[in-house]
This record gives sequence, structure tokens and C-alpha cells, in this order.
Amino acid sequence: MKEWKRHAAIVLAAGKGSRMKCDVPKQYLSLKGKPVLYYALKAFEESFIDEIVLVTGVGQEEYCQKEIVEHYGFQKVSHVIAGGKERYDSVYRGICALEGADYVYIHDGARPFIDNALLCRARNTVEQYHACAAGIPSKDTIKLINEQGFVTGTPERKYTWIIQTPQVFEYTLIRGAYEQMYQNMPAVQITDDAMVVETMLCTPVKLYEGSYDNIKITTPEDMVVAEAFLNAEYPLL
Ligand code: CTP
Ligand code: MG
Repeated sequence: MKEWKRHAAIVLAAGKGSRMKCDVPKQYLSLKGKPVLYYALKAFEESFIDEIVLVTGVGQEEYCQKEIVEHYGFQKVSHVIAGGKERYDSVYRGICALEGADYVYIHDGARPFIDNALLCRARNTVEQYHACAAGIPSKDTIKLINEQGFVTGTPERKYTWIIQTPQVFEYTLIRGAYEQMYQNMPAVQITDDAMVVETMLCTPVKLYEGSYDNIKITTPEDMVVAEAFLNAEYPLL
């Protein structure tokens, strides 16, 4: 029997970045002279993670391999593959490219600010609970609304959390959940991996402590915030 467990990451960079309203997909925009995508890859490269699969846009594989993986010397990147139409299609392609992984850390390449402490919290949580996602308490009150924009309910704030990535799963569990999803596509839009597990399996997804600086670069002002984080003295008080 194998004694050590193999921890693999899927870094997603196959989105078009439509909300960024920029010609270049946001994962390639420059943050302090390096592409946004560099920062997440660097964090995984320097961590306990054994292997990284990088999922890029169709036709961007060679650019990513040469200008990011080779240029910055990321030795743990084992595959650079093309993603799919939806985020979940890109994730599933990443899952299929992995061989022999015990745990898989699914991460948005548009979230540059993960660090080793966060990855260790993820590891400790997944080893105990099989499925987990980074989360932070919502600072704002969250409302549920209807199609017409009227409020239909207010969940108690202590139960509303903002969900981030990495979301981490036992490999066989997440692969099984995705395969079930493709056989029986839910009517609701699937926006993260925890949701695939929630809707397809009985395994509960445990939250682990994310961080307020683990932002997802989505709209132009996020680039200003990201630059400010990079210029800040850490730890912030
Ligand atoms: N992603 C992906 N494949 C897709 C869609 C998204 O790999 N078909 C990735 C993005 O590259 C990003 C992460 O999933 O790292 C989170 O998605 P999101 O923030 O929605 O990015 P985009 O889809 O690129 O942006 P937008 O929704 O504004 O078009
Ligand atoms: Mg998107």
C-alpha cells in the first residue's frame, strides 16, 4: 500500500474574462510586471503540492507553456491543456488529465493571493473531511431576490459566507461527482466545485478559513486592489 498521499492542483485559466472588459484575458494582465496567473502557480510550486495541471484557453497552450511555465521555471506543471466552454468543463478536463492523485486542489488562476498557510489549512481539512472549500464570513448582509429584483429573504449573516478557492477533494470523490453531473445536468447554473458535490453526493463540504486578500480578479477595480496588496507591508494590521 502507498504510504504517502499525492496532492495535485488544477489551476484554471481558460476563461475569457468578459467582466474585465479588456482585450487580453485577465489571467495574462500584468501585476507588478508578472502575469496574474504567475502568482498562483508560484504559490503551488513552492508548497507541498506534487503536481500542477494548468488549464488554459484553446490555442493558448503553447503561449502558457513557453511564456509562463518555462519562462518562470515552474517544474511542478505536468500538463498544460485546453479548457472548455464553462468553468466546470475546464475543471473536468483537468481532473481527467491527472493520474494517480489522491487529493485535488481546484483553484482559479485569477486568484493570485494564496499562500502556504492557506494551503496547509486546506490540506488539514480535506484529510479529515474529504471535501472542503475556502470561505470567509460575509461582511455585508446578503439578500435573496427574485427575477424582478424584489427581496425575498435575508439569511442570518452568521450563516452567509463568501466562498473562494482552492476547493479541495479526494480525487475519486470529485471525479465521481463530475461524472454524475454530466449524466444528470442540474437546471441551476453550476458556479463552483463544492456545488457539484452538494448536488450530486451526500458528502458534506466543510469550509476552511480562507482570507480576505484571496480576491478573484474579476472587474477592473480588482487590479487596483491587487496592486495595492502587492505593494503593502505584510502582515496587514
Ligand atoms: N475559467 C475556466 N474555464 C472557463 C471559464 C472560467 O478555466 N470556461 C476560469 C477562469 O480563467 C478563472 C476562473 O475559472 O480563473 C474563475 O472564473 P471567472 O472569474 O468567471 O473568470 P472568467 O470566466 O474568465 O470571467 P468572466 O466570467 O467575467 O467572463
Ligand atoms: Mg466566468
